Amino acid sequence: MVVPRPVSAEPSEGSPFVLAPTARISVAGPGADAVARLLRDALAADCARDLAIVDEPPAFGDIAVVIAPGEGPHEDGSDSAEGYTLEIAAEGVRIGAATPAGAFWGVQTLRQLVPAVCDGDPLTIEPVRVHDHPRYAYRGAMLDVARHFFTPAEVKRFIDAIVLLKVNHLHLHLTDDQGWRIQIESWPELTRVGGSTGSDGSRGGFYTQDEFRDLVAYAAEQHVTVVPELDMPGHTNAALASYPELNPDGVARPLYTGSAVGFSTLQTGDAVTRRFVRDVVREVAALTPGPLLHLGGDECLSTSPADFVAFVEEAARVVAENGKTAVGWHEMGKAGDLPAGTVGQYWDFTTPRERSAEYAVTFVRGGGSLILSPSDAAYLDIVYAEGDPIGQDWTGKPTTLRDAFVWDPARVIPGVGDAHILGVEAALWTETVTSIEEVEEMVLPRLAAVAEVGWSRAPADTEPIEATRDLDDFTGRVAELAEHWDAAGTRYRRVPEVPWREVTGIR
Ligand code: ACM
Repeated sequence: MVVPRPVSAEPSEGSPFVLAPTARISVAGPGADAVARLLRDALAADCARDLAIVDEPPAFGDIAVVIAPGEGPHEDGSDSAEGYTLEIAAEGVRIGAATPAGAFWGVQTLRQLVPAVCDGDPLTIEPVRVHDHPRYAYRGAMLDVARHFFTPAEVKRFIDAIVLLKVNHLHLHLTDDQGWRIQIESWPELTRVGGSTGSDGSRGGFYTQDEFRDLVAYAAEQHVTVVPELDMPGHTNAALASYPELNPDGVARPLYTGSAVGFSTLQTGDAVTRRFVRDVVREVAALTPGPLLHLGGDECLSTSPADFVAFVEEAARVVAENGKTAVGWHEMGKAGDLPAGTVGQYWDFTTPRERSAEYAVTFVRGGGSLILSPSDAAYLDIVYAEGDPIGQDWTGKPTTLRDAFVWDPARVIPGVGDAHILGVEAALWTETVTSIEEVEEMVLPRLAAVAEVGWSRAPADTEPIEATRDLDDFTGRVAELAEHWDAAGTRYRRVPEVPWREVTGIR
């Protein structure tokens, strides 16, 4: 069975479905055609099938994609925005959903059920009825393209990997001390200078606005919303290196390729800085069809507390003026006057330390919600095991697959339950991660765990937390999923918790 675990999946009676080379994809309802094209492309890539799409009722052995009101299952009987049903029987496959997004997630379930090793016929799938919908509206993956730059083609490969897990938000950490990666027409030196290098003197790079629009469109086609992050007022050395006038002494800072944090700050309150913030937010908001724009706000150790609060309150208002909702790392919750609905992203541990929970609660008090990225569970740049050559260890211990799986968002911040949780996000910081293959190996299989935490039903409310998550069941499903990764050439770490099968499917 699949990852994330569906709400219900009941094996049914009867013979298996056989995916014959002559099978067609039958479409009905608004948006079904686009989903069918994605299914056709996925099956062509996954198992070299080339199915025709037809706008007529399904015949025996066809795959039907039906989008209509009432087709998206939800416990309370209403349509779930991302829910779907998937029925597999000898006579055919039927994906039903109320929305194209729901149908697309049904497609991802079907892809996992098609045998990964499919060079021989017949291709069969056991009969099953799946009813499914997500626990949280936001399941995110963050890619830090500021420390090490990843090309548009590499980011698309990352999107292809995350959608198989029903992850529906891609948070791009576009700016940091080491690099500025998004073209800003009114401040061209940001990318010319600030985008010229990266961590450890790695290749620089940036997205032109056209490239960024194309990336956003590629993501949107696959029902992934891009959340751009412009991290400020700290983590801004690349900007300070690009424009002397952003610095208090009028002297540009040198480019930075190390991995210290907390040393840079914009000059809050300064007129040029305020214009800079308005310009970059306006341009990035205009490139962003999604509702969220992330302002960072983390680790501002060189900004005075009062300046920090005044700065983030003003910057979040600028985001609102540009029609977007601001997101901030939980430190932004030090500010009491953020625009209503500002979203917080919590990145302290699964057991909060110091005042992180209090800062996170500020967002809820202001009518916003929280994205949970506890760094001891969902920071996928943390090493898997002591001594790993790639990854960080500042959380004090490795993050195993089990650590990424055995936690619950509604049990992290006292008083904050599902009603105030927008969702979860796994973050990949890239100080030590230099290639897309390394990205995949850090993220997989742990992203499968975080995706399941975000999608699958809340576990029973019993103690202890270990008793609520069935690790053996999960790792068994990860082993099946890995056959698909093998077949696709997707890299992953063969962690010891998983009963991996023989690698047979590499093409
Ligand atoms: C962070 O890890 N500084 C958000």
